[in-house]
Amino acid sequence: MPVIAIDGPAASGKGTLARKLASHLDYAHLDTGALYRAVGLAVLHAGGDPACESDALAAVPKLAQMDLDSEDLRNESTGKAASEVAAHNGLRQALLEFQRNFAAMPPQGQAGAVLDGRDIGTVICPDADIKIFVIADVETRAQRRFDELSAKGESLPDYATILSQLKERDHRDQNRSTAPLKQADDAYLLDTTNSDIEAVFESALTLVKKKLGL
Ligand code: C5P
Repeated sequence: MPVIAIDGPAASGKGTLARKLASHLDYAHLDTGALYRAVGLAVLHAGGDPACESDALAAVPKLAQMDLDSEDLRNESTGKAASEVAAHNGLRQALLEFQRNFAAMPPQGQAGAVLDGRDIGTVICPDADIKIFVIADVETRAQRRFDELSAKGESLPDYATILSQLKERDHRDQNRSTAPLKQADDAYLLDTTNSDIEAVFESALTLVKKKLGL
């Protein structure tokens, strides 16, 4: 069962790339960040503290009832809570099996799976057929996030605030002791700073076709 692992920092373009590849190949797609976001949001709704591991673990049973596509998961306060709960080793262990099962047996019998996140190539699916590590300058990522929120017409933090929130999240994700964000040794590096999504998709697809012999 082919598995494509896509990792990278927030707003690097990894989610869009993962969705496009999955749709093109008719593979299942799992946005693993949504799992951590859902836990973070459930902790906030329960009045808990995302930095407290037992509060994070208490939210796990609620995941099954949560809509992982909900727009509520996409805002930056939920992203911050997600990156706080994601630092707890116990929580990461609790979410590991679900992610591995998704990769091994994609729902609806699809022929392969694309998972995107921070530790897919390093921890969740170290034997993935293809690993891609997506990066972009933090200023470019902040501008993308700003444009995305503007397009939705949301009440908007300014660019400088978004930039500092992204830097803070990068720092937390890269420096936590458990499954930090880092490029797997055998991952292909894709820098999206100066490329639009179509160009990024085309280079990823070329790589996938070559590796899978399609
Ligand atoms: O990718 P996204 O921005 O939705 O992820 C939200 C947060 O969830 C990240 O900042 C990161 O801390 C955490 N995460 C993680 N491991 C993953 C996916 C996301 O730690 N595989």
